Amino acid sequence: MFTRAIVRKPAHTYANGITTSNLGKPDFDLVQKQHDAYCEALIKCGIEVVVLEPDPNFPDSCFVEDTAIVTKDFGIIARPGDPRRLGEEVEIKKVLEPLLKLHYIEEPGTLDGGDIMQADNKFYIGLSNRTNLPGSKQLKKILSSYNYDVFSVPVCNLLHFKTGVNYLGDNNLLLHKEFCSKDDFNSYNKIIISDEEEYAANSLRVNDYVITPKGFPETKKSIEKLGYKVIELELSEFQKMDGGLSCLSLRF
Ligand code: GLY
Repeated sequence: MFTRAIVRKPAHTYANGITTSNLGKPDFDLVQKQHDAYCEALIKCGIEVVVLEPDPNFPDSCFVEDTAIVTKDFGIIARPGDPRRLGEEVEIKKVLEPLLKLHYIEEPGTLDGGDIMQADNKFYIGLSNRTNLPGSKQLKKILSSYNYDVFSVPVCNLLHFKTGVNYLGDNNLLLHKEFCSKDDFNSYNKIIISDEEEYAANSLRVNDYVITPKGFPETKKSIEKLGYKVIELELSEFQKMDGGLSCLSLRF
């Protein structure tokens, strides 16, 4: 059960952030509306939401998930793997410091929170262009000290691990059809996401609900069939900047 989330408002420089998508320039009014709706959805899921002010120096800084890994007992301040995002974690450290015992990923390690997935007592670390081996080894050491089982898996052709894989709980795992290390997840009930609905692989379980991006009916149906209540959110302006549901918050 999550009780808290940290989000950060998108800055007016948002459109200058990093993206590989060819979906056009985001409309800032719409970005703000979609972000507000995201916060309302978290509140509906029973979460107390801490909303941080925007930081125009970091256009990608609304994607707070990449800056830390959090559990109820401790947090790990990440070290973003793209130099343009290095420094976003400083403000998050200040916010988390009074709330959780903190650990740190240190140079030469790089690690984005979007590459880290918790599935009950296991953590998966995706080795992507953002998360390197030293970063993954440091994280493994910290998580193992808290008795989690930790696994590293390669990530190919995706920005982050959780762009293609997300754990819903109850042994249910959303998995994009082309995910390169699919066989690492054979013990789960896999809900395979088609190419057409790839963006919906980044759906997010929050307490009694699963939040999904709007416009992916097959995925929505599969999630509902599992018995979850679904909240659909329009995320077009975040998709334009390679952002998804999970990366917009830190939940614990
Ligand atoms: N635009 C999000 C990222 O590249 O990290």
